[in-house]
Amino acid sequence: MNRRSFLQTGAKLAGSALFMGLGSSSLLGSSRGIRNASPVEKITLNNGVQMPILGFGTLYLTDDLGVRSVAEAISLGYRLIDTATIYGNEEAVGGGIKQSGIDRSELFVTSKVWVEDTGYENTKRAFQTSLDKLQTDYLDLYLIHRPRGDVNGSWRAMEELYKDGKIKAIGVSNFTAAQINDLIKNFSVKPTVNQIETHAFFQQPGELEFLNRHNIQHEAWSPLAQGRNGYFTNETLAVIGGKYGKSNAQVALRWHYQRGIVAIPRTQQAAHMKENLNIFDFELSEEEMNRIATLDLNKTQFPEWE
Ligand SMILES: NC(=O)c1ccc[n+]([C@@H]2O[C@H](COP(=O)([O-])OP(=O)(O)OC[C@H]3O[C@@H](n4cnc5c(N)ncnc54)[C@H](OP(=O)(O)O)[C@@H]3O)[C@@H](O)[C@H]2O)c1
Repeated sequence: MNRRSFLQTGAKLAGSALFMGLGSSSLLGSSRGIRNASPVEKITLNNGVQMPILGFGTLYLTDDLGVRSVAEAISLGYRLIDTATIYGNEEAVGGGIKQSGIDRSELFVTSKVWVEDTGYENTKRAFQTSLDKLQTDYLDLYLIHRPRGDVNGSWRAMEELYKDGKIKAIGVSNFTAAQINDLIKNFSVKPTVNQIETHAFFQQPGELEFLNRHNIQHEAWSPLAQGRNGYFTNETLAVIGGKYGKSNAQVALRWHYQRGIVAIPRTQQAAHMKENLNIFDFELSEEEMNRIATLDLNKTQFPEWE
């Protein structure tokens, strides 16, 4: 589905028969057997590349735990895997992908260039290291992790890698609207994605509006706020979830989905992997979306990362 039509259709019809029908037809279209079936539909980025709207985060999932978790997530239906050089787990993620036995073309793999690796030459080198560790010859999405260091040099390198077909889509993370406007002004390839902290306690409505206006996909990191501030016991989310037989995590992930935001929850537990995928059979009403909007504290839950 095209991004704009997702946002228009999704906002009005999320959860309706038509909307759910689109979800399940993409399931039938893309699966090659039950083990690898994915219930997750895809949105289309501003360069035509398709991206699953729900994925799997891998922060802290290193070594054997990383291999096992990634393989398990893929077997349960996750297709978007989010890693980064700074997580120190690209080898583990690559191992998990290999262990899953899935065809590379079925996956959407994201990595990110870290601050110390910014600049033209460094980024080219860091990118190749990421490919080697992940045991792949291309990335679906490569992001500048933070708006620090030689961002312009990195973007120049990423534009070249994109034009050479080594990266399907390039984007940014933790960028403000002004920093994105600078890239748009100075370069020919526009970012496809901005991955930023987004959850019920930090909802980022201004960023969402800006990104939608520029047809750049909003992707939520820490979509469950890592459980901080009582996310998993929050009463507002629990009351809404009670009506549908859903957990706080499921309500939160459904809320991201209905806002048209890509979310990448992380878990090392198979039960939670399944739970987090099981959000496509209910719909939050407008009133419930508005009630969740009142939870916004409009501030980061991760001041230590600022
Ligand atoms: N670009 C950036 O700067 C940036 C920054 C931070 C994160 N990220 C990306 O975003 C991903 C997600 O963020 P995150 O890892 O910080 O946190 P998160 O996904 O918001 O939360 C992860 C925590 O939630 C728990 N959890 C997951 N599903 C649950 C469920 N259904 N019920 C109860 N608990 C559940 C997990 O514990 P269990 O393992 O016990 O389930 C884990 O402790 C990262 O893994 C990473 O890929 C990017």
